[in-house]
Amino acid sequence: MTAQAGICADPNLHAYYLMFDIKPDAFGATRAALAEVPALWQTLQQEYPDAAFTGLVAVGNEAWDELYPAARPAELAPFPAQQEGQRIAPETPFDLFFQLRADRLDVAYIAVQRVMALLAGKVELKDERQGFRYLDGRDMTGFVDGTENPEGEHKAEVALVSEGRFVDGSYLHVQRYKHKMARWQRLAVKAQEDIYGRTKVDNIEYESAQKAPTAHTRRTSLKNAAGNSMEILRQSMPWGTASTQGLVFVACCNTSLHFTRMLENMFQPDDNGHFDHLTLFTQAETGAAFFAPSQEWLVTQGD
Ligand code: HEM
Repeated sequence: MTAQAGICADPNLHAYYLMFDIKPDAFGATRAALAEVPALWQTLQQEYPDAAFTGLVAVGNEAWDELYPAARPAELAPFPAQQEGQRIAPETPFDLFFQLRADRLDVAYIAVQRVMALLAGKVELKDERQGFRYLDGRDMTGFVDGTENPEGEHKAEVALVSEGRFVDGSYLHVQRYKHKMARWQRLAVKAQEDIYGRTKVDNIEYESAQKAPTAHTRRTSLKNAAGNSMEILRQSMPWGTASTQGLVFVACCNTSLHFTRMLENMFQPDDNGHFDHLTLFTQAETGAAFFAPSQEWLVTQGD
């Protein structure tokens, strides 16, 4: 099978993120439209070979059964919402998620227009966000994001289901975060670095003993009972308007479990009352769980 290229894509300069709900009477028509998506991705890559375009469509937890009643990815489940006082990561389900990325903004925008045309009359656009590369791959908090991501062939090992009916698909969790920038910028650089457990300008990881139990990189570095790392592939990019900014967080994985455990570990205090202090400086505004099936799945199920 062939995974959609957006899952393991290399970092790009530009992105559009679109969230749709499917109209109640349009599931059949949407299934047929999604069967044309792999050809659309291929056409865009051929028309603009210099743009490093990659596309990705993923189907939401609630829409899956109506769209593809024949079979369901075993771990597709509601988004694992979190609430700890003021610190919340809500669930805001959507039926379809599109990630359209390229090194040319015009090409990413052409992809948006083609997707809108393909789905016209069948869906309602619920959320849209434009993402961009910021400096040398930094989040808007000023820190390089993605350094510890899996690389090379390991990307696919982490991100893609390796066997069974849903082989080469991926479990996605997507959140739109809005940063509390004024609050963040009041922190001294050292305090910001302690929150990540990495240095800011030159992006060096703290020694393990120096990392606070509240550091983001500590709370998201997890091991399972067998001592193996529980990894995800992050495909996040910053977004920004004149007045607000943040991160579109995208996790791709061969299981839903790893993201779920990480998010719990960020939000829920441990036995010592420690939680991820990054959650004091950014607010998740959306959160949704999806499965991004292989290209062959999209094509054959739409017949
Ligand atoms: C690491 C930013 C949310 C999982 C990092 C790093 C930055 C960062 C700057 C360090 C460099 C790197 O390895 O990428 C952010 C921001 C977030 C956010 C700004 C939200 C606004 C999340 C969420 C998860 C997550 C929701 C998972 C539930 C990870 C993981 C690492 C990481 C697994 C690598 C840890 C390691 O092995 O050192 N993040 N992150 N992040 N983040 Fe996040």
